Amino acid sequence: MLKGKVAIVTGAGTGIGKAIAELFGKNRADVVINYRSSEKSANEVKETIEKMGSKAITIKADISNYEDCVNLVNKTIEEFGHIDILVNNSGMGLSKNSILDITNEEYHKLMQINMDGTYYMTTLVLKQMEEQKTGGSIVSISSSAVEQPSSGNGAYAMSKAGVELLMRSVAQNHGINKIRCNIVAPGPTETDMVREFFSEEKRKRVTNEIPLRKFSEPAEIAQAVLFFASDMSSNVTGQKIHVDGGRTIR
Ligand SMILES: NC(=O)c1ccc[n+]([C@@H]2O[C@H](COP(=O)([O-])OP(=O)(O)OC[C@H]3O[C@@H](n4cnc5c(N)ncnc54)[C@H](OP(=O)(O)O)[C@@H]3O)[C@@H](O)[C@H]2O)c1
Repeated sequence: MLKGKVAIVTGAGTGIGKAIAELFGKNRADVVINYRSSEKSANEVKETIEKMGSKAITIKADISNYEDCVNLVNKTIEEFGHIDILVNNSGMGLSKNSILDITNEEYHKLMQINMDGTYYMTTLVLKQMEEQKTGGSIVSISSSAVEQPSSGNGAYAMSKAGVELLMRSVAQNHGINKIRCNIVAPGPTETDMVREFFSEEKRKRVTNEIPLRKFSEPAEIAQAVLFFASDMSSNVTGQKIHVDGGRTIR
């Protein structure tokens, strides 16, 4: 489904990003695996994709640093010549009992990664896509927290709401040049992030709130991202898919 396409996936060494990168590789994309600290697992993802017969490179970049983002985009162009797909997956989780438990330092770090990083990557890749004049697809990973905010995840929900608005505004103005922007909003998903924030007791309680009675697997999030990244969604832009077992219909 992605033959001939070049895709950057941020935070692709672990969790949801890893599943997206591997599914893209399976669908014949040339994949740029961005990582910040997970070098070993990023290299394993590269090997997996190469075994499937697709091309992959790893690039280290802290997306909260603008120069790193410029380097990530430039290296992709040097290696592959163009960019067709960007997946803004990298993110930081933050969940406390109350917003009053969040320090200003934590708040700023969260915004620098989730909002600034997504903004830097989106604008840099958008500029490249506009110059290429061949359209493109940008997909951002948000969260069901936007629909179900609580005091303790308020700052996190705020950062993801910003990401969603950025996607919708870019979709509005760049559709004329066949650049599509969409959002995938996972509910609780089996990755290190959920293991960090969910005690056994909270996991049981939340599972009972989910109509399908299970947390998402990273591969299930990746399927929705593939829909938006590929021509399967050729006339879809500015939209959001929840992959959360139906939790947000409550
Ligand atoms: N798991 C869930 O329940 C859930 C639910 C809703 C939304 N999400 C969202 O899904 C996305 C992926 O999270 P995950 O669940 O897969 O957790 P994860 O395994 O902890 O992945 C987070 C990824 O973000 C990368 N990252 C963090 N800060 C970065 C930075 N400054 N520069 C570049 N990369 C950075 C990490 O890279 P390194 O490891 O290389 O540092 C890591 O690969 C996040 O946006 C998260 O908010 C997750």
